[in-house]
Amino acid sequence: METEELEFAPRVISPEVTQDDGDIEISLRPQNLHEYIGQDKVKEKIAIYIEAAKKRGEPLDHVLLYGPPGLGKTTLSSIIAHELGVNLRVTTGPAIEKPGDLVSLLTSLNDNDVLFIDEIHRLSRAVEEILYPALEDRVIDIIIGKGPSARSIRMDLKPFTLIGATTRAGQLSAPLRDRFGVIERLELYTTEQLTDIIRRSAMILCIPCDTDGAAEIAGRARGTPRIANRLLKRVRDFADVMGNGQITKEIASIALSRLEIDNLGLDSLDRRMLQMIIKGYGGGPVGLETLASAIGEESVTLEDICEPFLMQLGFLGRTPRGRVATRLAYEHLGIVPPEQSTSGSDDGQLSF
Ligand code: ADE
Repeated sequence: METEELEFAPRVISPEVTQDDGDIEISLRPQNLHEYIGQDKVKEKIAIYIEAAKKRGEPLDHVLLYGPPGLGKTTLSSIIAHELGVNLRVTTGPAIEKPGDLVSLLTSLNDNDVLFIDEIHRLSRAVEEILYPALEDRVIDIIIGKGPSARSIRMDLKPFTLIGATTRAGQLSAPLRDRFGVIERLELYTTEQLTDIIRRSAMILCIPCDTDGAAEIAGRARGTPRIANRLLKRVRDFADVMGNGQITKEIASIALSRLEIDNLGLDSLDRRMLQMIIKGYGGGPVGLETLASAIGEESVTLEDICEPFLMQLGFLGRTPRGRVATRLAYEHLGIVPPEQSTSGSDDGQLSF
């Protein structure tokens, strides 16, 4: 349901995959670690683990990748499988409805294959329980029959690597989290890294784009390659219609303003959220649910999509009593912040 809603009304800067992204995302996907831009620390470590596993002829340890959406968790997994020289099976937590679905996935893997489960925090408990012995001892316990005559059969699995991805590491159960040997957080990308990603994508898609044009898009892509690539396509439309097809800083700036994406990458929903905290609730604190219903949005959208970026910019704080807008947020929106001494709430208030 959630994803359907996002697909129904996708924001240009939503980091979630939309239908429009599909094929392009695959064609832009780097094939090996060398081509993958950014996430340097994660890349360095993973390169060592891959080489060590290959040297020993063993599967790579199970890997958990977490962090905001759109940063390349799926891409990194396909690179890992490619570098290991094995097959990749891709699925998602909610798609594995019954324990039997997971059993057939696990038993269809070949030696050292990679199974990628996106949104792994959404696995049901019954499915998760099949996974524990599979990860730890490479066995699965299948119950045959019902009632008093039911018996459990243990089946060996071929060696494999599970790569789990999640935007919500905190929602993973401790027993599942503990079974991953490698746990890595993907970080938002810098503007320079996104500029390189946009230039690479433009080259693959044969879009003429100069460095300043790429940098202009990168600066408004909220640290997220998926958004950067989507904006590149939208800006190309403006360049084709309003100019000679070349993406320059000027064309990019005009296009992004028309898309209501400001110079820091905030869109109208981000601004509405901050404005509601400031004008509706005196700068906060205000609870997430209250805020979401006040602006008519799903709380998960605010929490997963707006908040990580607004917090990274230092525009939003989370306190035990709710969300607060910071002085930087007031300044960005051109609203005069209250005097410090009269800033209202006491505890949990961020210092401006
Ligand atoms: N496309 C999307 N993410 C990328 C990345 N990290 N490196 C290169 N190209 C990308």
